Amino acid sequence: MQLSNNKILITGGASGIGLGLTERFIKEGNTVIICGRRESVLKEVADKHAGIIIKVCDLSVEAERVALLKWVEAEHSDLNVLVNNAGIQNWMNITDADFFERAKTEIATNIEAPIHLISLFVGLPALKTIINVTSGLSFVPFAKVPVYSASKAFFHSYTHSIRYLLKDKGIEVIECIPPALNTDLGGKGLHDSAPPVSEFIASIFEQLADGKNELTFGFSEVRAKVGAEELREVFNRLNP
Ligand SMILES: NC(=O)c1ccc[n+]([C@@H]2O[C@H](COP(=O)([O-])OP(=O)(O)OC[C@H]3O[C@@H](n4cnc5c(N)ncnc54)[C@H](OP(=O)(O)O)[C@@H]3O)[C@@H](O)[C@H]2O)c1
Repeated sequence: MQLSNNKILITGGASGIGLGLTERFIKEGNTVIICGRRESVLKEVADKHAGIIIKVCDLSVEAERVALLKWVEAEHSDLNVLVNNAGIQNWMNITDADFFERAKTEIATNIEAPIHLISLFVGLPALKTIINVTSGLSFVPFAKVPVYSASKAFFHSYTHSIRYLLKDKGIEVIECIPPALNTDLGGKGLHDSAPPVSEFIASIFEQLADGKNELTFGFSEVRAKVGAEELREVFNRLNP
């Protein structure tokens, strides 16, 4: 993708990896729209960086996704990049009393929301690029986050299919595959020992500049390339 002069919607662009992408895309000379559920967090980012447009939106709700598209069509019909970054991670066990309720929220946010958003946004005449944020856990599950891991495996597989399906439409599909990084994903403190988002962002922008469409780093770079036997070993290490 071209790295400047785009109008980009980054879901969950006010925190963690999304914020890293937002700040770097702004620096590269793009207009960035960020959305999320917490208005105060969105406003804080917009106050810090000129040129950021914010939109409060709960992407787990179908009607809010449709309303987001209508708003983009009316106000930002030149939007040419969609970044499906928003996601949640629930640490849970199948025996938990609220397991299924939490699983449903995770599926609505990590699977239903991006597949619906993509189907809505591919109708925008200016759309040229879709970036999907999956995970190193797309390749091997971490059993403490069972539905999360499966949702990312789904999104990884789906990203391959839509890259093929959207080729004729001239829409490029890029998969951004982070390893564990130091964000608040899953709750404060759970990712404190992971590398900072800044190192990851620096690396994936080099890969974008090189024209790559699968952006990996550290753990995810290794996992994306190994075979089944090695993945079994990684599974045993992750899930002793
Ligand atoms: N950090 C890691 O270790 C890691 C590793 C691999 C992949 N990832 C992926 O990277 C992406 C970003 O995660 P992160 O680590 O940056 O975590 P994060 O800081 O918790 O960011 C998640 C973002 O998604 C937004 N979001 C969540 N649910 C939403 C909803 N229903 N509607 C709208 N926005 C919603 C959140 O905003 P609100 O709360 O304001 O809605 C937040 O800005 C996720 O897809 C995650 O799976 C992260």
